[in-house]
Amino acid sequence: MVHWKDTFPVDIAGESRYSRREFARFLALVSTGFTLGIGYLWARRKPLEGAPSGEGGAAVAVCKASELLPGKSRLFTFRDDQDKCILVRTWRGDLKAYRQVCTHLGCAVRWDGARLECPCHLGFFEVEQGFPVQGPPTRPLGGIVLEIRGDGMVWAVGDMTKPNVPRPIAAAGAGDGRGEEVLA
Ligand code: FES
Repeated sequence: MVHWKDTFPVDIAGESRYSRREFARFLALVSTGFTLGIGYLWARRKPLEGAPSGEGGAAVAVCKASELLPGKSRLFTFRDDQDKCILVRTWRGDLKAYRQVCTHLGCAVRWDGARLECPCHLGFFEVEQGFPVQGPPTRPLGGIVLEIRGDGMVWAVGDMTKPNVPRPIAAAGAGDGRGEEVLA
């Protein structure tokens, strides 16, 4: 019969050393995994706000500016296939682009001809700067920097720095570019 001391030849004093060694190994393993994980995320990071261009440095062609009449919109993707955005021609004739992600709980916003609307909880955003004007959202939509190049093509070229002072809802108005004053 095999005595248990033959199977576990560690005395009480040695047991504590053994445990410390195992614990140190465990810590080293976890630290290595953590470091590798951070390294992976860093390598796959998306450009920060204000970065000049899309994934891989590429701007994205959306459509010809002349194809989008006032009050109309066009969907496109920017950084990758999941990065859904919306390009809008306001009634003033300006072109604006935003991420389609509502800043409340992330539903897709859509253009109702005057404002950007989130159908999930009836949140609305004005179109000039993407500020929330009605419903639960409190933060502005993520804006996309646009460029119109020589051939009249509209390009999405980067992320707009978010305005950090929320516009008071009471002063917001419809924000559809049909003549109201937009506060900064
Ligand atoms: S998710 Fe858009 S209003 Fe709630």
